[in-house]
Amino acid sequence: MVNTNFLVIGSGVAGLTYAVKVAQRFPDKTVVIVTKADEQESNTKYAQGGVAVVLDLKEDSFEKHIQDTLLAGDGLCDEAVVEMVIKEGPKRLKELMLWGANFDLNDSGTLDLGIEGGHSINRVVHHKDITGFELERVLLQQVHKLSNVTVLPYHFALDLITEHHLDIPESKNISCYGAYVLDQNTGDIMTIKADRTLLASGGIGRLYGHTTNPTIATGDGIAMAYRAKAEIKDMEFVQFHPTALYDKKDGRSFLISEAVRGLGAVLRNKNGHRFMPDYDKRAELASRDIVSQSIDNELKKTGDTHVFLDCTLLDIDVFKNHFPNIYQECLTNHIDVEKDWIPVVPASHYLCGGIVVDKNGKTSVTNLFACGECSRTGLHGANRLASNSLLEALVYAHNIFEYQAAHPVEPVHAFIPEWDDVGTRTPKEYVQIHHNLTQLQALMRDYVGIVRSNNRLTKAVRHLDLIYNEVEELYKDMKVNTALCELRNMVNVAHLIISQSLERRLNKGGYYNVDNVPAAEKDSVINDWI
Ligand code: FAD
Ligand code: SIN
Repeated sequence: MVNTNFLVIGSGVAGLTYAVKVAQRFPDKTVVIVTKADEQESNTKYAQGGVAVVLDLKEDSFEKHIQDTLLAGDGLCDEAVVEMVIKEGPKRLKELMLWGANFDLNDSGTLDLGIEGGHSINRVVHHKDITGFELERVLLQQVHKLSNVTVLPYHFALDLITEHHLDIPESKNISCYGAYVLDQNTGDIMTIKADRTLLASGGIGRLYGHTTNPTIATGDGIAMAYRAKAEIKDMEFVQFHPTALYDKKDGRSFLISEAVRGLGAVLRNKNGHRFMPDYDKRAELASRDIVSQSIDNELKKTGDTHVFLDCTLLDIDVFKNHFPNIYQECLTNHIDVEKDWIPVVPASHYLCGGIVVDKNGKTSVTNLFACGECSRTGLHGANRLASNSLLEALVYAHNIFEYQAAHPVEPVHAFIPEWDDVGTRTPKEYVQIHHNLTQLQALMRDYVGIVRSNNRLTKAVRHLDLIYNEVEELYKDMKVNTALCELRNMVNVAHLIISQSLERRLNKGGYYNVDNVPAAEKDSVINDWI
């Protein structure tokens, strides 16, 4: 049994920012960060475009960023949250810079501001096209300076500890007492008792075979919170990024940042037609729900597997300077962006919903907080505005820290039993886990993709039931291991996405169900294939 004051699950921007703050404020208290891969691995590490912040008050304003966020969220954002996050942004960015984060400067020595889809003006602060890598570098550097923080890489959080595990009668008020954690190197299961637990476990991209997310993005935190009976909302709003590099194989797709379209690249179908102006007057810089749905429509009309991003009209030196990583990855794939169009296709990228939190990051479970992509704050509504995710994580990590500093808790003296694995066996083969994972990813891709229908969603419920039963059988039988637990979590998350999709009767932002389209709109350009 390990006792700590603060347990953090995840080492992306959300978990690390929070950990630095609580550890600095409470040098006599302990912080444990568990993270299931190496300490840098996270969605954060791959963030390209940057952090959206209002800095240039001559050209930009909080009001403009608020309006862009509300427009992208298609009427479902919480306006008070939007205002709070956007107004706090500059302070949080300044703090990151004081910790040592380097962002690109323009010729006049001020921060260079990029633009992405849905933004009405340049406001995206970035470090080349590897902004997330820079954030992880700085935050980990800060964490390692603090002697009261312990980072445990390759430690997988299995389940939150609640009354369900204790000898305490369950009531409506559920509390969190820490988590059971698998040491992936030894196979041992640790009981980590904590006064306060933060879920900062990131997104769900891996539910779809084709995703911009790394393999860690399996929705573990959301599934753990769901099993602990926390409120989960807006799961139908899975965001697909319009421009992932096309690859015939499933797996992590390399992202071609929206900032490339911000610089002037245009989308063409294979006949060379620039199709985005047919769909939206903002063309390639429409919000990403619209660009992804438009590409999906083009692909369905033509039967093609991908469209193209044409950068050939851009100044190649400017391109190389802004996007060295993208330039290099394209070259590795035998694409010379100066001459060749880049083949692109939408891929699952971000989850707008998640664990419901208030403005202090509190979930509906006492002493359990959530931050970053696993949380649902109300900022994004039905569709996240580009580069608002890193911003949200930075602002909420701070709010949670402030709240906890102002509301200290007494440690709970409860008896917490060790993990019970009586009756389970070491697995002799993993083929059933792999088979079910492949089935799940195919189901999500084919039945729960960018464009949904009641018929496909209902079939998805039936197929998922079969997968669920097989996975639960394996779970009862096998000693826990990462692959099995990730699969079980993904099945839980798939259930939430599908069931909440079926509940949604009105299409909004990133949610598009052909059966929700009013008859009068059926002949609009985006629906012409129905
Ligand atoms: P993550 O950074 O994903 O961190 C989650 C952490 O939790 C990881 O360390 C993981 O290992 C750990 N974890 C998960 N489950 C467990 C478990 N069971 N046990 C222990 N540890 C666990 N957003 C922007 O605002 N701007 C951008 O430019 C941008 N570009 C992006 C580009 C790409 C390719 C991708 C994939 C995303 C991008 N996003 C961008 C989105 C943004 O990067 C993420 O939403 C954000 O970084 C999430 O941060 P996080 O801390 O919540 O989660
Ligand atoms: C990108 O650079 O296109 C990703 C930005 C984001 O997801 O916010």
